[in-house]
Amino acid sequence: MSRPFTAGERALLLDSKGRRYLVSLLEGGEFHTHSGPVEHDQLLGREEGVTVRSSRGARYVAVRPTLAEVVLKMPRGAQVIYPKDLGPLLILADVFPGARIFESGLGSGALSMALLRAGAEITGYELREDFAARAQANVVGFLGPGVLERYRVEIRDSYAGVDATDMDRFVLDLPEPWQLAAHARTALRPGGIFVAYLPTIVQVATLRAELDRQGFGMAETIEVLQRSWHIDGQSVRPDHRMVAHTGFLTSARLLEPSQERLPAGYALPDSSEAGKDGAGGSGEGALS
Ligand SMILES: C[S@@+](CC[C@H](N)C(=O)[O-])C[C@H]1O[C@@H](n2cnc3c(N)ncnc32)[C@H](O)[C@@H]1O
Repeated sequence: MSRPFTAGERALLLDSKGRRYLVSLLEGGEFHTHSGPVEHDQLLGREEGVTVRSSRGARYVAVRPTLAEVVLKMPRGAQVIYPKDLGPLLILADVFPGARIFESGLGSGALSMALLRAGAEITGYELREDFAARAQANVVGFLGPGVLERYRVEIRDSYAGVDATDMDRFVLDLPEPWQLAAHARTALRPGGIFVAYLPTIVQVATLRAELDRQGFGMAETIEVLQRSWHIDGQSVRPDHRMVAHTGFLTSARLLEPSQERLPAGYALPDSSEAGKDGAGGSGEGALS
């Protein structure tokens, strides 16, 4: 289906060296480069993939930016969660359309954008008014003003308490998420999923101990390593550089308080059955 560029939306311009620029399109607008301006009117009414030229002849390819590209280019208040972690986080939290998610803090809104794009409804607490405003502006810039019906933001200290109830998910990116484990126990529905992003393993250890204390189980912590490859004819090898570390993702599920604590991962329902019929833990149901 044809969907040409229109005024008011954003385009991603790539120059001949692969550098990327995010541009908000305006009728009569100009994007200024080292080799003269590119007129926005060259793009308006044209399809994605079009090549345009600056006044001194430099070529730029224009496409609509993906979520990942917007996250890397958008204005930031606080450090964002990078796309390599946002994707796995959506799966760990098992985000689905209509999921009721409590999120804190909001920072620059990168994580909010990923959750909202997946169809979630967010109640978000952010300590700083300027960051909350930045997150809302970034979210609206990417998903349009209608998204605010699903993005309720409060300027609040989430460590002090959470009023939300019957949440499907808790998704946290702040320094001491263990301070929210007790709040999550009352705000999450049974079986609800708690996910936190943390930069250091010492923080992860503190969080895991508190999740245990608060009756969460099936906990896991992962780190996502992403290595890109250089592919140019017969020169095929991993790129020399990669991002060595961003953070750890920890997830856990709220279990019934009376239920016997499950070990990390997944246990067979009745361990006395193990060994019968050759069931040694590698059959259906044994995930770890
Ligand atoms: C690293 S940023 C979050 C970035 C965000 N996930 C993103 O991808 O753009 C951490 C945020 O947590 C907020 N914060 C820290 N402690 C908080 C608290 N107790 N309650 C609410 N927000 C808090 C900070 O103000 C900051 O905006």
